[in-house]
Amino acid sequence: MTQTLFGQSILDQTAHHVRELLSADSSGHDWWHIERVRAAAFAIGQREGADLFVVELTALLHDIGDWKFHGGDDTVGPQMAEAWLTNIGVERATIEHVCEIVGQLSFKGAEVPTPMHSLEGRVVQDADRLDAIGAIGIARAFAYGGHAGQPLHDPERSPHPHASFADYKLSRTTTINHFHEKLLLLKDRMNTNTGRELAQARHAFMEVFLEQFHDEWLGLS
Ligand code: ADP
Ligand code: NI
Repeated sequence: MTQTLFGQSILDQTAHHVRELLSADSSGHDWWHIERVRAAAFAIGQREGADLFVVELTALLHDIGDWKFHGGDDTVGPQMAEAWLTNIGVERATIEHVCEIVGQLSFKGAEVPTPMHSLEGRVVQDADRLDAIGAIGIARAFAYGGHAGQPLHDPERSPHPHASFADYKLSRTTTINHFHEKLLLLKDRMNTNTGRELAQARHAFMEVFLEQFHDEWLGLS
């Protein structure tokens, strides 16, 4: 009982902290992305039998120090998560587990594997990736593209399958190319059966969107 109350208080304090940190974001990594990932991760984690405390805590903290907003430094996220969890008195083993997942979660390029070493990591990664596809994924991609100052589309530029994280970090792309470089690849990179099932309809919706986009681009529709 005490453990449960303590756990709930940790989650509540963390949610409050993250909400304050990400409230002004307009790149698609705002608080509501975190809230959706938390809910999806909880649902997937329940079906997959994961430790739901670790799942929720990691979902809440997974984007607090994204490398894209810290000069490409992918150590900032786990460091910020560690400092926060230490500050609110979470036990060491849980901190290490959460921070390991936060450090590994990100997509790193079409040809770069991103293996997750625990069930909780696989669950949160699936939830994060589900929020990058489907209708919400499309909205977030264009929000990010505007934020990053990249073009919607340029028919003279081909998608580039990044072979290394360094290459992916440095790339300048178009938002339509980002679908081919990442978003359309995600359904086959889901870790859990639940994630795979949920990805199907979202993937199909993106295909319909892209077909319509290209038809309109050519004046065919
Ligand atoms: P991950 O959660 O795997 O680290 P990202 O933080 O890279 O994923 O992506 C988060 C969101 O930002 C996704 O919805 C993704 O589509 C979008 N995004 C990232 N890079 C780009 C890009 N170059 N163009 C358009 N959208 C992007
Ligand atoms: Ni995320």
